[in-house]
Amino acid sequence: MNENAGGSNGRIHVLGICGSLRAGSYNKGLLRAAQELARDHGIDIEIYERLRDIPPYDADQDTDDAMPEPVRHLKAAVSGAAGLVIATPEYNYSVPGVLKNAFDWASRPAKGSPLNRKPIAIMGASTGMSGTIRSQLALRQSLIFTDSFALLQPEVLIPRCADRFDANSNLVDESTRALVGKQMAAFAAWIRVVNEASDAAVGVQQ
Ligand code: FNR
Repeated sequence: MNENAGGSNGRIHVLGICGSLRAGSYNKGLLRAAQELARDHGIDIEIYERLRDIPPYDADQDTDDAMPEPVRHLKAAVSGAAGLVIATPEYNYSVPGVLKNAFDWASRPAKGSPLNRKPIAIMGASTGMSGTIRSQLALRQSLIFTDSFALLQPEVLIPRCADRFDANSNLVDESTRALVGKQMAAFAAWIRVVNEASDAAVGVQQ
């Protein structure tokens, strides 16, 4: 079993990544709300703060010797987490470049990537009408190649989000908070299912 999923203290350690670098990001606020609401479901979310430091993907630097320190840090953080929660805006109908870039680094090597078989919950808020539906689908498409275990339901798609947050970009809308809490409950169960299945598979191989 992944020692970060239901370890000795029974808590699940999860890494939260926001796809927006903006100080007043609604998606960062959404991730903070997830962090708060997940606690009751046994999940402790550590918010990743170094997305800005990750350089553009360069295969020449994607070697043991040349790998940039922020990339090593990212890969270790993903490896050490029982799951990921991604809160992302939609940029031009897709995933923001900074987030896609981080996933590109983390996706290598293809067999042995820290994203392989990693449970991932996805949520997103946008000021437009579509609520990040296209960026979430684009991210899910990338996760097919990495063989990551993206949670399917409930989806957290938040359109016209500005009114649901206060002046400090904290999520205050009760129905949205309830939905985020519901997704975190499902995610805790999903992580346990994935880990039990992995343990069973190891048992079969032994
Ligand atoms: C956007 N926005 C946007 N919204 C949307 O619903 N669909 C889209 O395709 C886009 N495209 C887009 C491109 C770029 C470059 C920017 C800067 C913005 C609007 C976006 O949803 C809004 O700015 C959110 O507030 C961004 O999220 P954060 O930074 O508040 O988390």
